[in-house]
Formats: sequence, C-alpha cells, structure tokens
Amino acid sequence: MDKGIGSAEHYTAGEGWTPGNLDFFTVKQKEFTAEEHDIWRTLYRRQLDILPKRAISLFMDSLSTLGISQEKVPDFNDVNNILMKRTGWQVVAVPGLIPDEPFFELLANRRFPSGNFIRTKKQMDYIQEPDVFHDLFGHVPILADPLFGDYMEAYGKGGLKAAKLGTIDKLARLYWYTVEFGLIQEPQGLRIYGAGILSSPTESVFCLEDKSPHRIGFDLKRILQTHYQIDDFQDNYFVIDSFRQLLDETYADFTPVYKELRGAPVIMPGELREGDAVLQRGTGVYAAAAAQRRAQRARK
Ligand SMILES: [Fe+2]
Repeated sequence: MDKGIGSAEHYTAGEGWTPGNLDFFTVKQKEFTAEEHDIWRTLYRRQLDILPKRAISLFMDSLSTLGISQEKVPDFNDVNNILMKRTGWQVVAVPGLIPDEPFFELLANRRFPSGNFIRTKKQMDYIQEPDVFHDLFGHVPILADPLFGDYMEAYGKGGLKAAKLGTIDKLARLYWYTVEFGLIQEPQGLRIYGAGILSSPTESVFCLEDKSPHRIGFDLKRILQTHYQIDDFQDNYFVIDSFRQLLDETYADFTPVYKELRGAPVIMPGELREGDAVLQRGTGVYAAAAAQRRAQRARK
C-alpha cells in the first residue's frame, strides 16, 4: 500500500523543476539484479493466486497483452511499445515519489511515473513508497483501457488546476478512492481496479470479502470530502459501474464543486451519510479493532 498523493513528507525535493519540464524527474530504468527479479516473481505469483475473479477482467488480460510477465521486472520500453499504440500512455522511471505539480503534469501528458526500485525481501508485505511492483503491476495494466486512460489524463489536468486553487487535499481523495482503492461492479460481480489493492494480497481479499467495510456507490462530492486511512485497510470503498461513468462524472471543471464544498466538514472513514448509495453496509468490526490499535500506538 502506498500513501498516494497529498502527503507531503515523503516527496523528493522539486527544486529546479519548472512547469513544462516533463523529463526533470525521469531517470533511466535501472538494471535490476537477479535477486530483485526474484522478488518481482514472488510478488507477482502471490497476486496471481489471488486476483483471478477478484481483479477487473481487463487487468488480467492486460498483464499478458502488455507483456508484463512474472519472469522478470519488465523493460519499460517493451511495455511502452505496446501501451503507446493502445492508448498513448507510457510508463517512465522516477527515483521516488515526486512533488504534486510535476506528478500531475506527467499524468496530463499520459506519462505514468514508476518508482525505479523494488522492495526488499523484508518488505514483502508493506512498503511506504511505491516501488516498481506497485506502480507497474498495480497501475499500468488498466492504462491500456481508453476510458481509464482518458480519466487519468483528465485527473492530471484537474490536479494542475487544483494546485492553483489550493484544493489538492480534496482532489487527492478522488485519486485515493478510485485509482488506488477503487472497486467496479462488473456483470460477473464486484471487482478491483485500484492499484493499492491490486498490489496487496491481503487487501485484495479484504476489500471484497470482509464484512467490515462499507461499499458505497461512486459520488464525486462525497469522495472529495472523505478522509482516508493511509496505514490500514480502508473502512469504506467506493464502487463505480464502469470507467465510462467514472470519466463522465469527473470530466467537468471542479471549480464550482470546490466552491460548494468550501467549509464543508470532512467525512471520516467508516462514517455513513444520509444520501449515501450504500451497496453493502459494513459491520465496522475490523475498523473498530484497527482504531483501537492506532490509539494504543499513539499512547506509547
Ligand atoms: Fe499508487
């Protein structure tokens, strides 16, 4: 699980970057060692055991069509040769998390930044900064979908606008609850499309099968107000009907929405509001235990 965007403390410094400098943070993809390829293989196989019938079908298809194989960390050039032809997206290597505006600008130009490193064997279950497994395995496959590709580009453009308006904190919630932790209702059942889930073996099961979290129908304004958990499973997931719905409901300029939400209270994770399209009401059992653990940690 990564922290998504919007939490400033783990960003690399952006000094010297100027708008329009798309290559400022981009580096050459590193040569991964045999041990690192082995870590990739282990992570990949673990997810392959879990994701069929849980991940959106497009995800499983795209792993093979984009040549994202379990054998080794893919060469970005090979993936890009196929992905560029499909949707005009490409993946570029960056040393770590980058500041908001350069990140938004890359997305607005259909470039997805991927961490140029992989977690160690000791970090198999948790890594604070997104690595190549989270970024390439989790995020890149669904960039092969034209509608989702358009959504991500629009998100990048919206991010640049939000940076000027001072509303990145609100917009970051949309990224969190869609790109990282989104669920989608497919004809065959509820499926995962969020990369934060797709790259996590435990949350891949929890988000669909645990009774604790609420599953709520997508609602833009509601999401922009909803705080999120960065260090544990989510207390609520938002469900879209399709990427068409996601794109249609987020394509407009958010300026009037931000204005409307100015001063509106933050909705806490796990809280249900009148008017929520509750698809599955959660028991909150896991969430309560997690909150207790957090309180205990805070007391120490
Ligand atoms: Fe991510």
